[in-house]
Amino acid sequence: MKSSVLRLSLGIVVPLVLSLLFLKLLPKETAMPKTYEIFGVKIHKNSPQSKLTELGVTTWPKYESGPSKIPWSFKAEETMYLLEGKVKVTVEGSVGSFEIGAGDLVVFPKGMNITWEVIESLKKHYSLKE
Ligand SMILES: *[C@@H]1O[C@H](CO)[C@@H](O)[C@H](O)[C@H]1NC(C)=O
Repeated sequence: MKSSVLRLSLGIVVPLVLSLLFLKLLPKETAMPKTYEIFGVKIHKNSPQSKLTELGVTTWPKYESGPSKIPWSFKAEETMYLLEGKVKVTVEGSVGSFEIGAGDLVVFPKGMNITWEVIESLKKHYSLKE
């Protein structure tokens, strides 16, 4: 009697513990990196930490801004990594607009003119190419 109860609970507890251990040991689920280009702007989503480290993103100057709307002209190619917030970018000449946000690594080409509208308070690192 007793041993069958023991065997039953072992039959449940042991596989349960093992599967929990297995889940714990699996690498954390990571979203797939994705890159696309719109109006000549390259947007990298879910860049792996290794890429950000390689670029030295955290050593780049930091910029913060509350909600605002300004015209902007890129005097140099600018790569930025958005830590927080959301920005609507409208390309000059009624070409169109798109949004970028937290976690995006974005490269704007030199000479591009846009309207930069911060929709949600922004924190970013940026790097200008000489
Ligand atoms: C962007 O604006 C600058 C100055 O306003 C202008 O000289 C330049 O031709 C514009 N670039 C484009 C691609 O329209």
